[in-house]
Order: sequence, then C-alpha cells, then structure tokens
Amino acid sequence: MSKITTLKNYYELSKTVADIVETQLKENRLSKLALPTGSTPLGMYKELVKRKLDWELAITFNLDVYLMNIDHPESYQSYMQKNLFNSINIYPDHCNFPFRPTKAFEYKIASYMGIDLCILGIGNNGHIAFNEPGSLFNSRTRVVDLSEQTIKDNSRFFDSEDEVPKQAITMGLETIMESKKIVLMANGKHKLNILNVAMNDEVTIAVPASILQQHADIEVFYCD
Ligand code: PGA
Repeated sequence: MSKITTLKNYYELSKTVADIVETQLKENRLSKLALPTGSTPLGMYKELVKRKLDWELAITFNLDVYLMNIDHPESYQSYMQKNLFNSINIYPDHCNFPFRPTKAFEYKIASYMGIDLCILGIGNNGHIAFNEPGSLFNSRTRVVDLSEQTIKDNSRFFDSEDEVPKQAITMGLETIMESKKIVLMANGKHKLNILNVAMNDEVTIAVPASILQQHADIEVFYCD
C-alpha cells in the first residue's frame, strides 16, 4: 500500500511538487530530473518559473514524446519550451527528449548515472509516461502505439481526434523505476479511482502505475 496525500486544491498540489523540485535542485545543482507533460504539471511549471531557481547545471529527461513534427505546437518539445525551458536558465543541450535509437537515449541516462527525481502524472487508464496497459514491468525506452483511450483523452489538445499522433517514444517502466525518487501527481475526481487502484490494489501490468508500489522512495499527491 502506498499512501496518497490529498491536498486542498490544485495550487497546493503544484506548490508541493514544486517544493520537492526546488529542494532537489538546491541539494544538488547537477540533478537529473525526469519531467512529465500533460495538463496536470502546468501549475507546477508555472510555480517553478516564478521561483527563479538556478538550473544552470541541471539535466532533464522528458518521459515521453509523440512521434510527430517536433515544431508542432502540441509536440512535447514545444510544450516544454513554452512552459518551462524558455523561462529558466537551463542549457538547451541539457534538455533531453526520448529519441531513436532508443538504446542511445537509455545510454545517455546511464552516462549521467541515472535519474535523481522523476515527476509523473497518471493517465485515466493507469498509464505512466506512455506505458499503456499491458506494458511489461521490465520495459525500457521504446516506440509504442497509443491506446484508444489515450488518443481520445489527448484529443482535447488537438483540433480533432484524427490529428492526435498514434505513436510515441516513452521511457519504459523499468527505466522509470530506476529513478532514485519518484513523485506522482494527480488532479481531478476522475483520477481518484485509478489512483486508488494503482496504489492499493494488485500490482499488475493491466495497471502500469501499480508497479510504483514497489518503489522505495515514492510520494503520491492528489487534489480533486
Ligand atoms: P493529464 O495527463 O495530466 O493531461 O491528465 C496525465 C497522463 O496522461 O499521464
């Protein structure tokens, strides 16, 4: 069983996770962070930008990217530029996104001695990054097909469902689990059931986030 900490609103959720990132960056200026996209972390990024932290020596690895034109406004590269990287003093060369060959991306993480802090969201189907239900617990970074549910969920960011990319590159579950510390954030009543199932029920590949129960240093934050 993993404890879920319920916070009183979205601002508290964003601030609490931003505090953890700030502490990490202050304890170790050379921190390696794994970062999420989607709607949930937007407030956290806003808060981090406001705090004017020193990112000069930090290294980031995004959890996943759509297989699409990276200049598209809805690419995760564009998202990160807009919501964080353009507003902090990080070096562009220090901002990594999953790429092919995926083994080379894994090698890059390993060459930095792994991820210190990984921030995650959770999908309505229990995915973390783009590890959809059925993903193996020993999976590494790879190209994946997005599930119908994820395509439907993410169509809100595009003009139509047809425009949502059908494939992505995602860090694997084992890659994520090797992070020294993990923080999972979930926002909204519609996420509460899957969050409870993932954190308190059986550890199963049908609910990829359930593997997080086996991580030694995980914190889970929720607000409705
Ligand atoms: P969301 O996505 O933050 O947009 O709800 C979370 C996820 O799919 O991991």
